[in-house]
Amino acid sequence: MGKRVTKQDGSSSAVQRKRVQGKDVTPSRWWLKRGLFALFVILILVPVSLSMLPELIQHFVYTHRIQLPFFVDLSRPADHSLNHTINMYLTSEEGISLGVWHTVPESRWKEAQGKDLAWYQNSLNDGSTVFIYLHGNTGTRAATHRVGVAKVLSALGYHVLVPDYRGFGDSTGEPTEAGLTTDALYLYKWVKARSGNSLVVIWGHSLGTGVSTNAAVKLIEQGEVLDGVILEGAFNSARQKIPGHAFSWYYWKFPGCGYLFPEPWAENKCVFPTEENLKKIKSPILFLHSEDDHLVPIQVAEQMHEVAVSAQNAERVKLVSFNGSLGYLHNGLYKDPKLPGILKKFVMSL
Ligand SMILES: *[C@@H]1O[C@H](CO)[C@@H](O)[C@H](O)[C@H]1NC(C)=O
Ligand SMILES: *[C@@H]1O[C@H](CO)[C@@H](O)[C@H](O)[C@H]1NC(C)=O
Repeated sequence: MGKRVTKQDGSSSAVQRKRVQGKDVTPSRWWLKRGLFALFVILILVPVSLSMLPELIQHFVYTHRIQLPFFVDLSRPADHSLNHTINMYLTSEEGISLGVWHTVPESRWKEAQGKDLAWYQNSLNDGSTVFIYLHGNTGTRAATHRVGVAKVLSALGYHVLVPDYRGFGDSTGEPTEAGLTTDALYLYKWVKARSGNSLVVIWGHSLGTGVSTNAAVKLIEQGEVLDGVILEGAFNSARQKIPGHAFSWYYWKFPGCGYLFPEPWAENKCVFPTEENLKKIKSPILFLHSEDDHLVPIQVAEQMHEVAVSAQNAERVKLVSFNGSLGYLHNGLYKDPKLPGILKKFVMSL
């Protein structure tokens, strides 16, 4: 029905157009048409585009709808050879359901077979350090490099919880900076309520580093201090300009939209004031960064490291960089054979 109406409209306007073309079009009419067209653009198209801009920004910062890998059933972590992992859903806020994977220490994999949610929740109290891994801005908790990190941590004897923030994966809602931070805080408190005296460390990667430092500062405001923070591929939205680096395409795919968009948009949509946050954080921090990171140059991590060092005891803030010839880029650190040793050392120091 609707289609037929459109067709009729289309053909009648085509007829009209022909008639207009058949007549002699005088120069003044030509200008009138151009003028009306310009008016149309200014009055209709520009406001419409501007009203869509926040959504566009949101889309580019949190490329959450691009679900890589495709066709993954997030309720079955065992498909990713995480056979000691449970999939669960937590309500971080009314109407917001988060998909979360909890992997227990690898030494418990046999025991974990066929166990239910209650068993997994109780296991958090076994004295092993618990990691909350806050991922970057594309795909889901099933992405290869995220599964890779979970496996490294689990093999070291730690628990790992990997959520998909609101709007990512099978989690409901739409992503915003405040929303992502709320999700992270909720999961942290959920873990703390079950983990007894175990250490709880937040590991942020990429966009997740911004969420991690936001969450850490929110906790400080509530009188709590994180046991440790790992920032892998940390970015900085306050000082993006590094000499010798072309940032133009980087910010299309990445947070720090202040560079790309005028300030008011940036303030409303994504601030991620990592540098300001680092000045307040008193927890031990480990920066991990690859020298060949193509999304965030290593200099950014060096700057962030300096800021953190001057804010607290230098002993408690470390930067470990990985040789660029290893080819890890932005996501591949989990492959490094030295990483388990580095992580173990960090946890022992807490
Ligand atoms: C389960 O996972 C553990 C740890 O990755 C592995 O050693 C074991 O072989 C796996 N077992 C099965 C049956 O796949
Ligand atoms: C990185 O590795 C290459 C090749 O193994 C080596 O030549 C270079 O010295 C290393 N760079 C640093 C900073 O260690």
